[in-house]
This record gives sequence, structure tokens and C-alpha cells, in this order.
Amino acid sequence: MDQKNVLLKPELPSLKLLGRGKVRENYDLGDHMLMVATDRLSAFDVVLPQGIPDKGAVLTGLSVFWFGLLRDVVGTHFVTADVAKMPGDVQKYASVLRGRSMLVRKLAIVPFECVVRGYLAGSGWSDYTRTGSISGIRLPAGLRESDKLPEPVFTPSTKATVGHDENVTFETVKENLGAEMATRLRDLSLKVYLKAADYARSRGIILCDTKFEWGQTPKGELVLADEVLTPDSSRFWPVDGYAPGKAQPSFDKQFVRDYLISIKWNKQPPPPDLPAEIVAKTSERYLEAYKRLTGKALKD
Ligand SMILES: Nc1ncnc2c1ncn2[C@@H]1O[C@H](COP(=O)(O)OP(=O)(O)O)[C@@H](O)[C@H]1O
Ligand SMILES: [Mg+2]
Repeated sequence: MDQKNVLLKPELPSLKLLGRGKVRENYDLGDHMLMVATDRLSAFDVVLPQGIPDKGAVLTGLSVFWFGLLRDVVGTHFVTADVAKMPGDVQKYASVLRGRSMLVRKLAIVPFECVVRGYLAGSGWSDYTRTGSISGIRLPAGLRESDKLPEPVFTPSTKATVGHDENVTFETVKENLGAEMATRLRDLSLKVYLKAADYARSRGIILCDTKFEWGQTPKGELVLADEVLTPDSSRFWPVDGYAPGKAQPSFDKQFVRDYLISIKWNKQPPPPDLPAEIVAKTSERYLEAYKRLTGKALKD
């Protein structure tokens, strides 16, 4: 399918590629790094053939918004999203990069994903149904899917390079990184979650759960890295229609998931093409998430 207005694979030949993820491509700028959010979409851990218009800009715009809101709470890796303020080598690609790129401090990334859950969903819900716990944290009996937890919990996971991340206990993080670092990661992650969840709630959105990545500066300062609090790293639920006892529709990818289930795709590559209507509706959802959370349209 021929698609205009989407970026699937940036061509930035004079920049040094540091890594290519499912959605983002990172370029090495010495002490700094350029993060470029493409319009790629992954569902069930597989990248789909079609891009979602404006998705990269929504992911970047939301991260920038949150870095601003969180500035008083934690240090972050964010430097600028203004291409005109980036190095000259980057500026020459301004037309490709504008709106979808962030210049950040290059960090030594902590090798655990710092997940915080305020509600029971996804792998947290399936762990709870099997064991009554998530990541070794005992929870009250009788909770339903999507129920609010008595208090948010820190449920770290491995950073799998291939396949799915696996939930690990706080003990495992301690054994690997030491008690002091593990405790800082947990306390900071919970603090950021609480601040963000409070804010999201004021905008009619429940922040079910989210995944943070933290990194260390050369001086050893621990700062918030990666994308933050985007639909790709978090579950956002509209407050209207929230009904525990079942899975909540996901704000962004639900049309894609429903479509893939309806055609009985076996979730193994290669993924099928997405119809234009599903692509358009998904794009609207991402834009809607941006607007609801920030209070203004992305393209005003
Ligand atoms: N400030 C930073 N310094 C170095 N690496 C970072 C920084 N922020 C994020 N990263 C890394 O950049 C990558 C982001 O790319 P992404 O497309 O999200 O990959 P993935 O598919 O692994 O999630 C992740 O591996 C993340 O750990
Ligand atoms: Mg990622």
C-alpha cells in the first residue's frame, strides 16, 4: 500500500546510527543522542507494514510535554525538540526530523524496565490470576481485571533484546544493581507515576500503568530517559466508560488489535496489511490522546 505522510524508515546518511528499535531510531552525537520517532506501529510485538500518520509526532510531543511537567520532580535526559537548536549535521535533515525528534543526553541506561502499575491489566493481571502477586508483591484477594490497586506498585521487568520482557522481583533488581540503586529506581518511578496519574486524572484519563527507563549521566546522576508516558509506553483509559471486571479498550491501538483478531492473524510474522480505514482511525486516536492529555491539538 502506498502511503503518503508517514515516515517508516528515515534516511539520514551522514548521521551515525546507534540503534534501531521497533519505533525509534537513535543517532550518536557524542555526549548527546538524537531520538527519531518514526510512524511505525507494533501490535503483539510485531511491527506492521503500514505507518500511522502523525504517530511519531504524537509520541515526541507527549514526551516533551511530560518532561516539562516533571521538571520539578526529577532530572531528565531531555535537551530540546527544536531542530533549529540541534547540531548543524542534524539541521540539514530538518524537513524529515521536525516534530518527531528529540535531542537528549546520552546515558548509561539501567538494564531494567521500571514499570509502575496503579491498576490490574496485561501481564500484571495474568500474574495475579496465577499467583496472587505481581513481581513478588502480594496483593489482596478477589481483585477483578482492571481494578484499581490499593496503592501503585513497582513491577520491574527485564529489557529483552528479543521477545517479550519478563517481570522480575524487586529482589532481583537489588541483586543486580545493589539495594541503594534499586530503592532509588523504585521510589523515583513511583513518584513520577503518582504525579502523572494525578495530572492525567484531571484531564479525564486514567493512567493504568506505565514503563520508565532511567539512565546515569557520566557524573552518576540518575535521570529519566527514553520516551515518557506515551500511548506506546503506557495504558491510558478514558475515565468515562471505565468498568472493572473486564479488559478496558486501549485508547490507541484498539482498532488495530480488533482488526488483527477479526482476521484471525496468528500473531507471527509476516504481519498482514492494515486497511486504510484502520490506519486513519488509529491516527485519530493518537491525536486524540495528545489533545486530551495536553489540552491542545497537535496541529494548531
Ligand atoms: N538518553 C538515552 N541514552 C541512551 N539510550 C537511550 C536513552 N534514552 C533511551 N535510550 C534507549 O533508546 C532505545 C529507544 O528505542 P525504541 O524504539 O523505544 O526501542 P525498543 O524497541 O527497544 O523499545 C531503547 O533501547 C532505550 O533504552
Ligand atoms: Mg521503547
